[in-house]
Amino acid sequence: MEPNMSTEYLDIANLENSNVEQGRPRSEAAETPDITLDTDLKFRARNIDVFYDTNQALFDVSLDIGDNAITALIGPSGCGKTTFLRCLNRMNDVIDICRVTGSVELDGDEIYTDKVDPVLLRARVGMVFQKPNPFPKSIFDNVAYGPKIHGLAADKTELEEIVVNSLKKAGLFDEVKDRLAEPGTGLSGGQQQRLCIARAIATQPEAILMDEPCSALDPIATARIEELMGELKESLAIVIVTHSMQQAARVSQRTAFFHLGTLVECGETEQIFTNPHDDRTQSYITGRIG
Ligand SMILES: Nc1ncnc2c1ncn2[C@@H]1O[C@H](COP(=O)(O)OP(=O)(O)OP(=O)(O)O)[C@@H](O)[C@H]1O
Ligand SMILES: [Mg+2]
Repeated sequence: MEPNMSTEYLDIANLENSNVEQGRPRSEAAETPDITLDTDLKFRARNIDVFYDTNQALFDVSLDIGDNAITALIGPSGCGKTTFLRCLNRMNDVIDICRVTGSVELDGDEIYTDKVDPVLLRARVGMVFQKPNPFPKSIFDNVAYGPKIHGLAADKTELEEIVVNSLKKAGLFDEVKDRLAEPGTGLSGGQQQRLCIARAIATQPEAILMDEPCSALDPIATARIEELMGELKESLAIVIVTHSMQQAARVSQRTAFFHLGTLVECGETEQIFTNPHDDRTQSYITGRIG
């Protein structure tokens, strides 16, 4: 972290110049009230820097993420949304050249410590990717996999219960109940994505991270997933990366806008879309940058 952050300011013209390496705007997250949440906090990220080799992708990002709510991460391509999302369950650990500094607390406990097993962490904080990625296994086994390796079911009956309940919660059960032994890869794209959500739900996570989960889906499948997110948020925290402003506005309660590796602004979704405080947010949501 470099000093003198608060005095740095860049206008849009400068931001559009990709050579402004030293002059990047710095997040004032820690000082900005909208970044913090007083109640129902799930994640507390502070001063996150991320490097891929020598290339810095995130600059001093601080953000609180609420429980039982959907938080949308928006911003132009390459601004670091996926990188930030992956910080929340240490998925960046699996990238050799990636180095993360800073702090992320989950329910008040630091996740960047040797005491935390990243595999267990990822069961608590599930992930759904842009491209549905069912395992090359049956529909049943896709969902049963997590509970099996984490020993969540005492016996076969209990495992079946978990699988059926997860598929029901993901709104997929009725469509697949007669073909649970068939390969997950044989489902349609929208069904595969719901299968991946069922797989994520099966380990009874406390949070689900979704990276553009609907970008490969048609409007009907998208509506189904959005409806599902609304149901899931009653029992967990959801963070979604999306390129669709409409989707962010429809599903989320809070929105965070990223630009050039910094968190520019975060607030109630309605405020971000109707009355953004920062010119860069305004430019992005009105389609002038991105
Ligand atoms: N595995 C990686 N190896 C090297 N650099 C990476 C890697 N993943 C991301 N980056 C770099 O980090 C920066 C942020 O990328 P990131 O994928 O987080 O952006 P994003 O906001 O998710 O973009 P998009 O909207 O296109 O998905 C980019 O400069 C990107 O090139
Ligand atoms: Mg991305």
